Amino acid sequence: MTYSLVDFCGDVRAILAESDNHDGRQRVRRQLEALLDDADFRAAYLGADEDGMTQIYEDPDFRFCVLAYKMAAAHSSPPHDHGDSWAVYGQALGHTDMTVWSQPDEGNRIEPKRTFRLEAGQADLFDVREIHSISYCHGAKFVRVTGVDMRALSRGARGARPSQERALSRGARGARPSQERALSRGARGARPSQGSVEPRRVFDPETGEVHEVASVGTSRR
Ligand SMILES: [Fe+2]
Repeated sequence: MTYSLVDFCGDVRAILAESDNHDGRQRVRRQLEALLDDADFRAAYLGADEDGMTQIYEDPDFRFCVLAYKMAAAHSSPPHDHGDSWAVYGQALGHTDMTVWSQPDEGNRIEPKRTFRLEAGQADLFDVREIHSISYCHGAKFVRVTGVDMRALSRGARGARPSQERALSRGARGARPSQERALSRGARGARPSQGSVEPRRVFDPETGEVHEVASVGTSRR
């Protein structure tokens, strides 16, 4: 039995309508594992073509987004969170080593709390404000589902606690000037979330790169 991106997004909508909380996001995680198991989905969105990240769905009502990553080079992100957005990561090919960080004294210091490797077919949840870092191998392919679209990341950075702000800033400082300019253009050119949007360039803290984001709205397969 096939399980398409259309099926997945419909299920996520139903889940969030009923349970927009930790338990609901765990259900989203399980559905993402089902989606990753579908060969037609992997062929359509995680094939052998160009490198990089593509936003393949943005929900006009619940605001969650689905992003497909095909990364030619290995990369490690700094510790960061996604502000008020949760994120579910699902590995399709290769692996990603994950570290969850804690702030033991509510100060600026953070320390690793949990490390694990996400293998192909597995998905895991980072809930709201959960600090994490990721390190993926070359050729890694994975899907990320976020509670809101990429523009919300800047809101998360502004609302982050001091240690998180530094972590986020370290990632931002790694961007080349051209990328920073592109990010600024993307932010100014962004429109309110309404399903399909014009392609725009956004800075991705998971990769330290600027990407062209193309939403395909609700017509996906
Ligand atoms: Fe992240």
